[in-house]
Amino acid sequence: MASPDTELMEASLLAAAEVGTPLHVPLFARFFAAFPERRASFLVPEAAAPRMTDETLQIMFGLAAGEAWVWPFVSEMVSMHRAYGDLPVVEFDAFVDMAVDVLGEAAGPAWSADCDAAWRRQADRLKRLIIEARQGWAALA
Ligand code: HEM
Repeated sequence: MASPDTELMEASLLAAAEVGTPLHVPLFARFFAAFPERRASFLVPEAAAPRMTDETLQIMFGLAAGEAWVWPFVSEMVSMHRAYGDLPVVEFDAFVDMAVDVLGEAAGPAWSADCDAAWRRQADRLKRLIIEARQGWAALA
């Protein structure tokens, strides 16, 4: 079921889009600053960075909107990432949090305390789903 978070989240996405700065640039700069050893895992960062950024935000919006595609999508994303090496959950958590951080910075005045809370709520849900999917795939291995 759709939650009231969607309205605030959509307004911040539109505000960030109007500014026009591609969010993957600050997000990946921050992510690689925090986890420099992870840079080598990315063979084609120019291709992966925009997709990882957009999909992370779409998943959180999809969660707020109660979209049924979210769980299979996250499960598939986690499965695909098993091919990229042993990626610690702490890096997934940080990536999701940093995606919200850079969106907030780009959204400017559209980013209220309520908007921040809405995104953080969905970020926490996404982080839990990622852990659930990791456990599910590990149990099958
Ligand atoms: C949490 C949400 C995430 C989503 C939705 C996501 C999504 C994606 C997608 C769609 C791709 C394929 C890109 C392409 O081939 O064009 C990809 C690649 C990749 N992702 Fe993620 N990702 C996420 C988080 C992470 C995290 C936290 C890490 C590292 C710890 C990571 C590491 C990688 C690597 C190493 C690749 C392959 C890049 C390459 O070959 O250049 N991802 N991701």
